[in-house]
Amino acid sequence: MQACGIDFGTSNSTVGLADASGARLIALEGGSPTLPSAVFWQTEGAPPLFGRAAVAAYLEGEDGRLMRGLKSTLGSGLINDKTAVGGRAVSFKDVLSRFIGHLRDAQQAAVALDRVVLGRPVHFVDDDAAADAAAEATLAEIARTCGWREVAFQYEPIAAALHYETTAAAEELVLIVDIGGGTSDVSVVRVGPGRAARPDRAGDILANDGIRVGGTDFDRLLSLAEAMPHLGYLSATRGGGTMPRHYYLDLATWHRINALYTARTASDLKALRAEADHPERIDRMIRVVAGQHGHALAMRVEAAKIALSEAEAARLPMSDLTGGPNPVIRREGFEAAVEAPLDRIRSLLLRVLDQAGVSAGQIGTAFLTGGSSQLPALRATVQGVVPGAPLATGDMLGSVGTGLALDAARKFG
Ligand SMILES: Nc1ncnc2c1ncn2[C@@H]1O[C@H](COP(=O)(O)OP(=O)(O)OP(=O)(O)O)[C@@H](O)[C@H]1O
Ligand SMILES: [Mg+2]
Repeated sequence: MQACGIDFGTSNSTVGLADASGARLIALEGGSPTLPSAVFWQTEGAPPLFGRAAVAAYLEGEDGRLMRGLKSTLGSGLINDKTAVGGRAVSFKDVLSRFIGHLRDAQQAAVALDRVVLGRPVHFVDDDAAADAAAEATLAEIARTCGWREVAFQYEPIAAALHYETTAAAEELVLIVDIGGGTSDVSVVRVGPGRAARPDRAGDILANDGIRVGGTDFDRLLSLAEAMPHLGYLSATRGGGTMPRHYYLDLATWHRINALYTARTASDLKALRAEADHPERIDRMIRVVAGQHGHALAMRVEAAKIALSEAEAARLPMSDLTGGPNPVIRREGFEAAVEAPLDRIRSLLLRVLDQAGVSAGQIGTAFLTGGSSQLPALRATVQGVVPGAPLATGDMLGSVGTGLALDAARKFG
């Protein structure tokens, strides 16, 4: 008897299968268990492309629209918005359904199942219970449309805890810190070899909370600090004003980039150029928008961010996209740009310990997962909150999917 868990992530997705002997992730693209959460919607009525193939088609200049960060549209007003692709209107919900349908096809090819456990962040939306419930309901509806008859949810950090537990040698309190592309989720969970098989684990979850902050926010803030000023962000215009900010916010935000690709924006930017103190900067902006290079630029910014996890400085190559310079970014510059969200994550960690009613000294291990948990500043933040606890890292991109499958085996097995 197999059971299935799906981790639909802001940046990457996985599909886990489990039975009594354990859990594994299935290959989704060319032998890899992760599928980048990207869709390339082709113009000529051809079926959409997913994952690395979607990104490659976009970078090769094929006709169509690349969409990334789609999970961020759940719980936002954007979910039912339509975007024009090749003269056809497509809603984000349609695009999400195709992507999750693709995950469903991969699962069906491995084993036919009609029940699934989907992961969800602790909060899709901060401080808005109704929008949060709507986000979960939309995701459940999409999953049913894709063919699963029974859909259950598990919190992503609890899933990560279940995966961590498969390696735990002794009973302990673990602080789970899952920092992904869209959300930061934290839990305090009691794990232990003797506990995994228990049917009801509610009493072992001491606290669970999360905020809508993740790697895509770090990308946006880095872009606004280091890339967008070269394209005219915050530049003066004649008459004492500055360039309108919203164009730059859209260009720096993964799931809003396509909104710029309209005739209206093109003509507005041209008019603004005539008013700008630095028209050469606006020319770069016009070039990026006209060439639909927004995602390419965002990928370069993300790559520079990732490089800064290893190096003290990294070059941001963008002159081929903008016609402007290739700035060098220093790690201090990045960390200054993301200070506010890191402070929010620190407060979240302290709040969750408080909710759990435990002191930092009672935490046996801090288990870090999610791609953004590789940021040195983030690891330092966690270590600062639980100074005595070792930081463990497992499979950064696979823990949640594996844990969701284990949860599915328990719920449906
Ligand atoms: N070495 C690194 N340093 C910093 N950030 C990184 C590194 N590697 C990956 N990331 C970031 O990790 C994020 C993706 O992580 P992950 O795949 O865990 O997210 P996700 O599960 O899709 O998102 P979520 O769970 O929030 O919906 C991206 O923002 C990516 O840029
Ligand atoms: Mg995740």
